[in-house]
Amino acid sequence: MSRRRVTLAAASEADQVALGSRLAGCLSWPFVVFLEGDLGTGKTTLVRGILRGLGHQGNVKSPTYTLIEPYALGAGTGYHLDLYRVGDPGELEYLGLRDLLAESSLLLVEWPERGAGELPIPDLAIHIRYAPQGRELELRAHSAAGEAALRGLVPMDVGSKIPPSIALRLESQEENGRNQP
Ligand SMILES: Nc1ncnc2c1ncn2[C@@H]1O[C@H](COP(=O)(O)OP(=O)(O)O)[C@@H](O)[C@H]1O
Ligand SMILES: [Mg+2]
Repeated sequence: MSRRRVTLAAASEADQVALGSRLAGCLSWPFVVFLEGDLGTGKTTLVRGILRGLGHQGNVKSPTYTLIEPYALGAGTGYHLDLYRVGDPGELEYLGLRDLLAESSLLLVEWPERGAGELPIPDLAIHIRYAPQGRELELRAHSAAGEAALRGLVPMDVGSKIPPSIALRLESQEENGRNQP
C-alpha cells in the first residue's frame, strides 16, 4: 500500500516552529516521529515547535548526551531522543522504548538511523534538507495514524489552507507519484 508523502517548505526558524506546532495538533497518541537530516537542518527546532504546540513553554535542548528528555504535556508524556552519539543501537536497550510507547506517549527521535532495530516503526518520518531559502521538509506516513496526521496537516485541496508564512511551496503526492485528487 502506498503511503502518503507531503513536502513542505519552511523559510525561517519561526516557520519551522510554526509548522511543528501545527503538526502537533494533528497527532494522535501514542505516536512516533522520526526526524532525519544533516546536522543543523532544524530537527530540534521542529521538535520545539511540536512541544510548544502541545503546551510546553520552556526550553528545548537536544539531549545529545542524555539521549532522552521527557516532557510532561497535557495529553501525556513526550520523549525527545537524540541518538547522534549512539555508536551501537544496543546501547538503547535500557531505555525500554517500546514500553514508553505502551504507556501512550509521543516519541520524537532525532538520528533514528543510529537506533536501528531498537526503535518502533514510526508513524511519521520527516526528512529535512537545506533549501535555497530555509529548509524543505519531506513528511512520509508509515501507518494509518501517520496518514491521518498528514491529512490533518495538509488538506486535500492542497495549498489552500496552509498559511503562506508556513509553506512557500507545497506538494502533496502519493508515494508512487500519482497526484492526489
Ligand atoms: N526552516 C528554517 N530556516 C532557516 N533556519 C532554520 C530553519 N529551521 C531551523 N533553522 C536554524 O537552523 C539551526 C540549526 O537548528 P537545529 O534545530 O539545532 O538543527 P538540528 O537539530 O537538525 O541539528 C538553528 O540556528 C535554527 O535556528
Ligand atoms: Mg538537534
